[in-house]
Amino acid sequence: MELRVSPRRIFRPLIPLVAPLAAALLLGSTGVLSAAYAQTAASAPQPKAPDTIASRVQGCIACHGAHGEGTDNDYFPRLAGKPAEYLFNQLMNFREGRRKYPPMNYLVTYLSDDYLHEIATYFSQQRPPYPPPAKPSVGSDTLARGQQIVLHGDPAKQVPACAACHGAKLTGMEPAIPGLVGLHMDYISAQIGAWRSGSRHAKAPDCMHEIATRLTDEDVNAVAAWLSTQSAPQNPVPAPAGSLKTPLACGSEPQ
Ligand code: HEC
Ligand code: HEC
Repeated sequence: MELRVSPRRIFRPLIPLVAPLAAALLLGSTGVLSAAYAQTAASAPQPKAPDTIASRVQGCIACHGAHGEGTDNDYFPRLAGKPAEYLFNQLMNFREGRRKYPPMNYLVTYLSDDYLHEIATYFSQQRPPYPPPAKPSVGSDTLARGQQIVLHGDPAKQVPACAACHGAKLTGMEPAIPGLVGLHMDYISAQIGAWRSGSRHAKAPDCMHEIATRLTDEDVNAVAAWLSTQSAPQNPVPAPAGSLKTPLACGSEPQ
């Protein structure tokens, strides 16, 4: 199975979109962006947006949804409701090159730590509904294998249960472990593939790198498939900080 996403598949149509968005962010105003939208909706009147954080993150919504809920694109993740420190770490990772996706790297290149914090906090507080869970695209044996690994791990391979860190309800844990519900199957397998191939890094010790390299292609396919078919719980908030003792040390999640 090919786990690495071909960047060309995603980038090509989007590069022209990103330049005006980056400009709007840097100016901290919506002027440039309104101009860009005006080209596509020339007849519609342009309301003057107030200069709030909600208006400044307009540059993000084409790919992440109006409230960070994600879009239909298989590789564009949900941001809403993930812990603020997790989102902040990712924005830093893109800025410093520990994660690679050129439009994201470009957008955050010149943004300050404070500004990235503000953006991360904003998306962590958004509570848009979750998409309906995906219909299973794999057989029931594969789904059962995925469920087994997520909830119980695979002791023979020293793979801990994903739920041990991502929470029994898979909604993550404060301050920096993300939820795994509401994500597309292809996004999940691409991220685990990126940890295996070394194109995604977290703060050392990088527990996800450890775990990703203990999984086979079949395992990754199974966990990604099962996770994508799960509904979000009623109250999809991350577990409180320190409520789970992580079975491996993770640099991004202090114990
Ligand atoms: C051109 C589309 C696009 C735009 C515009 C965009 N993003 Fe992204 N973003 C992505 C993709 C694709 C990924 C996943 C990249 C990868 O594979 O690592 C991502 C990943 C992220 C992540 C990590 C999510 C996670 O769960 O690990 C954060 C945080 C994020 N983006 C925030 C933003 C913010 C804030 C903006 C606006 C300043 C923005 N993005 C604009 C496409 C986009
Ligand atoms: C020892 C704790 C731990 C365990 C066990 C664990 N994770 Fe993680 N996971 C983390 C941490 C910490 C992060 C955030 C890393 C970062 O800052 O980039 C993370 C991030 C992720 C992400 C990125 C989510 C996104 O929005 O981009 C995925 C996908 C993921 N884990 C899947 C899994 C799967 C599948 C398993 C089980 C096979 C698993 N994790 C087990 C700690 C863990």
